Amino acid sequence: MLVPVIMAGGSGTRLWPLSRALYPKQFLPLTGSCTMLQETISRLGQLNTAEPVTICNEEHRFIVAEQLRTLDNLGTIVLEPLGRNTAPAIALAANITAHRNGDADLLLLVLAADHVIQDEAAFTAAVEKAIPLAEQGKLVTFGIVPKSAHTGYGYIKRGDNVDAGYNVSQFVEKPDAGTAQQYLDSGKYYWNSGMFLFKASRYLDELKTHRPDIAGACEASLKHTEKDLDFVRVDKAEFLKCPEDSIDYAVMEKTSDAVVVPLDAGWNDIGSWSALWEVDEKDENGNASRGDVILYDSKNCLVHGSSEQEGQRLIATVGLEDIVIVDTKDAVLVAHKDKVQDVKKIVEQLKDDG
Ligand code: GDD
Ligand code: MG
Repeated sequence: MLVPVIMAGGSGTRLWPLSRALYPKQFLPLTGSCTMLQETISRLGQLNTAEPVTICNEEHRFIVAEQLRTLDNLGTIVLEPLGRNTAPAIALAANITAHRNGDADLLLLVLAADHVIQDEAAFTAAVEKAIPLAEQGKLVTFGIVPKSAHTGYGYIKRGDNVDAGYNVSQFVEKPDAGTAQQYLDSGKYYWNSGMFLFKASRYLDELKTHRPDIAGACEASLKHTEKDLDFVRVDKAEFLKCPEDSIDYAVMEKTSDAVVVPLDAGWNDIGSWSALWEVDEKDENGNASRGDVILYDSKNCLVHGSSEQEGQRLIATVGLEDIVIVDTKDAVLVAHKDKVQDVKKIVEQLKDDG
């Protein structure tokens, strides 16, 4: 039995103006009628899983509860008073799961709430192949064959073959552009998909070894949890003392027990508008559009019109190429498709301007 651990506390700033602090991308239906969070849970259908443990910011508790209730799979929702990144979030889930079930050796399938996976059967098969490795005490990551020298991903160097995977001979989180290019050219690296499978106990042991400060702060913040309706609230004062770090830097770069299982399932982390364009359905001119849109003599654009509730407006384009347009009730983004990584700079500027 696997316990799905869904990390849903990110802010998704590169998908502004659709993704907002109060309603980040994982709670939006970006690729279909279900939201990214709902799709993450729904794609577990073919696996033998327990109820999910979802970890999110307390601000989003009602959105999460409503979206999971619609799927009839509420599970446990753990609320963080403030995001401390993924290493602490997973530590909370691991401790809660181990304690609840009286079994620290349960397998946790750690998933991000904002990934697209087009081939569900291939995803299921990769997870099933990874189970024996996790049962041996390995920390399994799922590796994607890289398509570019993207600097927003972790890179995993393949070592010797073990069962259905490979020992990880090196894990480098977010290398610089030159290093990423070398890794790509070598053909020996995978991208880290940001999904993991391991025993709760193994993750907690590794965290205690490499980041005892995080492990200790998470344990302390669970001494006095409050069960509030469907939610588990951690001790705010204790959790605020927890240092911030991701699982990738805190554990995966440091452990000597990591293995990588290749995943070829149409994975995409929808980190930006261009990533959404890649997975979206397109017309014969390569345009992806939503809402009331007329595209004339335009190529390879993404045009996301506002919804009916927002008083849908017609968007018309003439002679555009590689342009992203996103319309919402109170903000419109117009950007070049090659520059959409910088949308987060606009969000930073908006924050600075108060
Ligand atoms: N609960 C909680 N609390 N969740 C969080 C927090 C937090 O403080 N911070 C991030 N998350 C969630 C996000 O919502 C997302 O689902 C997931 O954890 C991963 O966080 P990101 O912030 O999106 O990480 P990243 O994209 O920069 O990098 C990770 O994913 C890449 C693949 O998409 C790393 O694992 C990389 O190595 C990997 O390549
Ligand atoms: Mg991400």
